[in-house]
Amino acid sequence: MSEKATLEINGQKYDFPIVNGSENEKAINISSLRAVTGGITTLDPGFKNTGSCQSAITFLDGEKGILRYRGYSIEELAEKADFLEVAFLLIFGDLPTEEQLLKFHKDIKDNSIVDDDIRKILDAFPKSAHPMGVLSSLTSALTAFNPTSVNIDSEEDMYNSVVKILGKLPVLVAWTMRKKQGLPLDYGDNSLGYVENVLKMMFKQPNQDYVQNPILVNALNKLLILHADHEQNCSTSTVRIVGSSHAGLFASISSGISALWGPLHGGANQAVLEMLEAIKEDGGDTKKYMAKAKDKSDPFRLMGFGHRVYKNFDPRAKIIKVAADEVLNDLGVEDPILDIAKSLEKEALADPYFVQRKLYPNVDFYSGIIYRAMGIPVDMFTVMFALGRLPGWIGQWQEMRLRKEPIGRPRQIYNGQTSRSFKA
Ligand code: SDX
Repeated sequence: MSEKATLEINGQKYDFPIVNGSENEKAINISSLRAVTGGITTLDPGFKNTGSCQSAITFLDGEKGILRYRGYSIEELAEKADFLEVAFLLIFGDLPTEEQLLKFHKDIKDNSIVDDDIRKILDAFPKSAHPMGVLSSLTSALTAFNPTSVNIDSEEDMYNSVVKILGKLPVLVAWTMRKKQGLPLDYGDNSLGYVENVLKMMFKQPNQDYVQNPILVNALNKLLILHADHEQNCSTSTVRIVGSSHAGLFASISSGISALWGPLHGGANQAVLEMLEAIKEDGGDTKKYMAKAKDKSDPFRLMGFGHRVYKNFDPRAKIIKVAADEVLNDLGVEDPILDIAKSLEKEALADPYFVQRKLYPNVDFYSGIIYRAMGIPVDMFTVMFALGRLPGWIGQWQEMRLRKEPIGRPRQIYNGQTSRSFKA
């Protein structure tokens, strides 16, 4: 054994190999632990110290604030790439040639029709339903209309499932929003680019042509790229573990949407806007909310702050903050919420509570300000996060499948009642 870790338990020593990643990360491979120690396992609530897999898709360094997709920096991709290029990169491992991109986009467009019967499922939801619950349900329903999506050993069926979900999810996103607005549903326009088509499906009014605004196209393209993957976060880990049971791609993506919904995860972008609105209603009293965030007896947290991995600035937050200024200026929108966000950030970055805990703005802190300026309803913000994260979920699910990862089944330490008999 080359590099190793030695564990000593009750005088007995056990050696375990050290795994080295391509960015010099190190992990102790404990896959033999239970067998060699006669049943001892590890305990790590929230998996803060536990790697679930090795992956070649996304690298992030939380201390240095680095994020790369397949080796390309998020800064370069956000500035120069097209979302569909990044989707191809995440899923297939390299940036596409022009020919590959054209075929990929054609296959997606050829598979973007959603079975009309899915409208009946959508109709059954009350208008008050949260869009993430609707989207997760409709995504899972896709399996019923595309049964080959569960043939995980067929590369042809799996490629078709990939282009189907990339083609159909934008339709489901637009339907979910427009259903609540009482607007007609349509299937988009295959003559458009991927992002342009999303905007047209979401915003076209029935009584007028839809005119593309390049500011919105560029902003959405950048936001979708910035959300596209983030290694083994909560929702991606969910997609992988559901897929590890050999459930189909759509069922796995549906579970990822449900995990992303939570306000500690993707739901934070909606919670940030609601928090900023509350502060605005409260006369802009940011100090009151900072105090609430630090008060352990108060469940309130400063939404959009802190991160499991980033103990420095989330590089995506830096890019989105600049983009928020640009988009609002370009659109001529004055939004006091942005000013409140900036003063909240400034106060938090100078406050010992946040500094000591290395709590910085994360991807969700500024994104909602752009979505709002684009006219996206606040309860659709996390849906937009899901649309961006889709290629990352697909790429991670494919990697899990192609590497034939074992079914995910963690152990536990039981601390309940010991054996007792049933007395009638
Ligand atoms: C995303 O994992 C990913 O990659 C996720 C994501 C992705 O792209 O997939 O980056 C997207 O989910 C971003 C995070 C969005 N969530 C929020 O903005 C919600 C607010 N943030 C927190 O709830 C929290 O920071 C988490 C959930 C993001 C991270 O929590 P951890 O790593 O479990 O940290 P913790 O809860 O153990 O907190 C450590 C300390 C605690 O205080 P002490 O017990 O040490 O006194 O920091 C405090 C916490 O109370 N703390 C906060 C806080 N976040 C952590 N206090 C006030 N406000 C906050 N936002």
